[in-house]
Amino acid sequence: MAKANRKNGIPKKIGILTAGGDCPGINAAIRGVGKTAIVKYGMTVIGISDGFAGLIHKEFFELTESHLSGILTLGGTILGTSREKPFKGTGKKKEEFRKPMLIKEHYEQIGLDCLVCIGGNGTMKTAYMLAEGGLNVVGIPKTIDNDIWGTDVTFGFDSAVNIATEAIDRLHSTANSHKRIMVIELMGHNAGWLSLYSGMAGGGDLILIPEIPHDEKIIMDYLQKRADNNKPYSIVVVAEGINVPDGESSPGRYLARRIQEVTGLETRETVLGYIQRGGSPSPMDRVLASRFGAAGANLIAKGDFGRMVAHRNGEITSVKLSEVAGKTKLVSADDPMVKQAREMGTSFGDC
Ligand code: F6P
Repeated sequence: MAKANRKNGIPKKIGILTAGGDCPGINAAIRGVGKTAIVKYGMTVIGISDGFAGLIHKEFFELTESHLSGILTLGGTILGTSREKPFKGTGKKKEEFRKPMLIKEHYEQIGLDCLVCIGGNGTMKTAYMLAEGGLNVVGIPKTIDNDIWGTDVTFGFDSAVNIATEAIDRLHSTANSHKRIMVIELMGHNAGWLSLYSGMAGGGDLILIPEIPHDEKIIMDYLQKRADNNKPYSIVVVAEGINVPDGESSPGRYLARRIQEVTGLETRETVLGYIQRGGSPSPMDRVLASRFGAAGANLIAKGDFGRMVAHRNGEITSVKLSEVAGKTKLVSADDPMVKQAREMGTSFGDC
């Protein structure tokens, strides 16, 4: 681990970067780290542009209190982001990689005592590898997918659930008017959290998630039975990560086509896309992101590096990056929410 320069025992200069897909609440987290670092600890805060790419290309600027004003409610990230994965790809030993070397070199040239990495699973893995390589690193988990191991929840998720639920709510009235099946495809990568929560909040009749393999025949029979029972319409919530035949790029489009072909019921699809990631964070996400940010600055002040801040059992805490790296938090098939949804008649397309 790098030796941190300390003023009254506290690290003096920290860098913050945001990597991976953006989500609502990142600016609130930057503000949380930055304000706590500046106001409470008198640190200098450096904003690194565009994720790890900014450290590779040495693109950075000092984040002052004025940069941090007025950003709490802003969507996106004022630092910019990228999907740069510095350890990806060459197959050589990791200490031979050029990009990680550049990151280390520039970390030292800028005079950083710690690097705060705000990101998702990929970012936490990179953060862990940089920590293994000797940098002082603190991770802050963000993603609309809520799939980061070690934390019960990530910021971005609540906002995305709100957006997706509103979209489902709006589909109900048009579905009812036209007596149609409405299929809505939501993001979530390989996890079904967003579809499960929005599906339950929006009263989805069928919720298809990657963690629960579905059977097309069961789906068709379920929808046909609803129509036979005079249910004028059905809402099908589909996570983007579910299994569909090779060559089908959108599970929502594929399923809508199949439902209409097999059942003859008029079906339409909506692929909600990046709307789920854009715009202002929900109040819950503003609070969570601010608390994560402040907790990150507190870890740095204590010299508690190599950790990711987390929300566990109602408390803000932290976990070792070594425990988080390389894992994904998926919905368990016997999750209580899945069980309760089934008890209310929701189908997961499996039985
Ligand atoms: O991980 C967040 C996420 O929004 C996923 O839900 C989605 O699959 C992916 O990012 C889209 O990523 P990109 O920005 O690379 O298109």
